Amino acid sequence: MISVMEGYDASTYGERIADVYDDQPEHLALDTERTVEVLADLAGDGPVLELGIGTGRVALPLAERGIDVHGIDASPAMVERLRAKPGGDRIAVTVGDMADVVAPGDGYSFVYVVFNTFFGILTQDDQVRCFQGVASRLRPGGRFLIEAFVPDVTRFDRGQRVEVKDLSLDDVLLHVARHDPVAQRIDTANVSLGTGGIGVMPIVIRYAYPTELDLMARIAGLGREARWGGWDRSTFTAASRSHVTVYRAPV
Ligand SMILES: C[S@@+](CC[C@H](N)C(=O)[O-])C[C@H]1O[C@@H](n2cnc3c(N)ncnc32)[C@H](O)[C@@H]1O
Repeated sequence: MISVMEGYDASTYGERIADVYDDQPEHLALDTERTVEVLADLAGDGPVLELGIGTGRVALPLAERGIDVHGIDASPAMVERLRAKPGGDRIAVTVGDMADVVAPGDGYSFVYVVFNTFFGILTQDDQVRCFQGVASRLRPGGRFLIEAFVPDVTRFDRGQRVEVKDLSLDDVLLHVARHDPVAQRIDTANVSLGTGGIGVMPIVIRYAYPTELDLMARIAGLGREARWGGWDRSTFTAASRSHVTVYRAPV
């Protein structure tokens, strides 16, 4: 087994990206409005908890609707960004690993983790532990939503991938990745080379197939209520590249 990038831990991604997270083209392109619509529909009367709350892309508009939003994040720098935004001081956030579900409250009507963030938990054991922690903090009938990509290992050639993301006269942006199919882990970095110097933005994830997530839910005593192919609540099919799945605690 290839070992995880040395020195990488749950806070590394956030600590490195916090200053530029909100300006990344791929983050600006997300359909945050539709995401918030769906989350608000499922939130119930709160409180709700976001795992990997980041800079509050989703949490802040939800809180603006009067929903009592709490959060967990491993990166103090991301939380600092959230706090600096209007309304950010009203969201209770705990800095910690979401595998531990170190939530600032209890009796949640809804817990959610969006934008592949669940895969920031780097082992299967810890992912199961997270499901169990969420289940223990949901009130009866409470819901847990996950948005994640459907793994596609055909992207890798002999366990590696190098992709040119941008190429201009003075700058190159490369995405490099190493795949461990046994641990289901992908160690990646966005590498920028150019007149401004060299930059490395690492991300390590442990992916899980939708069916594996269903088993984790079952271990934690949660049942699957819905699985959509996206925030438009379209039917999930074999061609779907990502999914939005809702699990529910027994009533
Ligand atoms: C891709 S960002 C998503 C932020 C926000 N949810 C959004 O949709 O814009 C992932 C966030 O999860 C946090 N994170 C990653 N792994 C984590 C872990 N194991 N425990 C807690 N937070 C984690 C990162 O610090 C970062 O803020």
